[in-house]
Amino acid sequence: MSLYLIRRPNFEFNWISDSDRLELVEKLTSLRGDQMFNKLILGFVLSIFAVSTASADVAAGKKIFDQSCTYCHKSDYDDKFGPGLAGVTDRRDIEWIDKFLENPAEMIKSDEYAQTLKEGNDYNLTMPALPEMKDPAKRQAVIEYLKTIESID
Ligand code: HEC
Repeated sequence: MSLYLIRRPNFEFNWISDSDRLELVEKLTSLRGDQMFNKLILGFVLSIFAVSTASADVAAGKKIFDQSCTYCHKSDYDDKFGPGLAGVTDRRDIEWIDKFLENPAEMIKSDEYAQTLKEGNDYNLTMPALPEMKDPAKRQAVIEYLKTIESID
């Protein structure tokens, strides 16, 4: 009934008494207040969720990095077998890094920057296609971690 009235106030308001009308208006305003409040709460919960997912990713990403990447990469600017990865999320856009992690060989074939990297590499090692980097969630996690080592000198 109240929904019907919201949609067609002019139609239906004439049928109800003044006191009913007042009550209805009160109900409607409190309903709107509630909805607003619910939206605020929802927004708040979602933002907390977003922040905690990102920090969960960073922790998971650091673990992956320590286990799978540190043989060849350092988390500062110094090269090891591969380039130091500090600042890499500044140098390259996220999509490039994601594609490179998923399939480095393909990128070295088709992407100019990846070729330059390969050619400038003095070691006889190349960026491997790591099985776990086939998983988009793990790539995202490691990238979240790489973002945090952006400005370490
Ligand atoms: C066996 C050594 C090795 C391992 C292990 C390795 N990489 Fe690499 N990585 C390289 C080399 C070497 C390059 C430079 C390109 C080339 O020569 O293939 C490179 C390049 C990169 C680049 C591009 C750097 C730039 O300056 O643009 C990123 C990003 C990267 N690696 C991330 C990772 C991550 C993340 C892991 C772990 C999940 C990892 N690598 C594991 C050897 C390795």
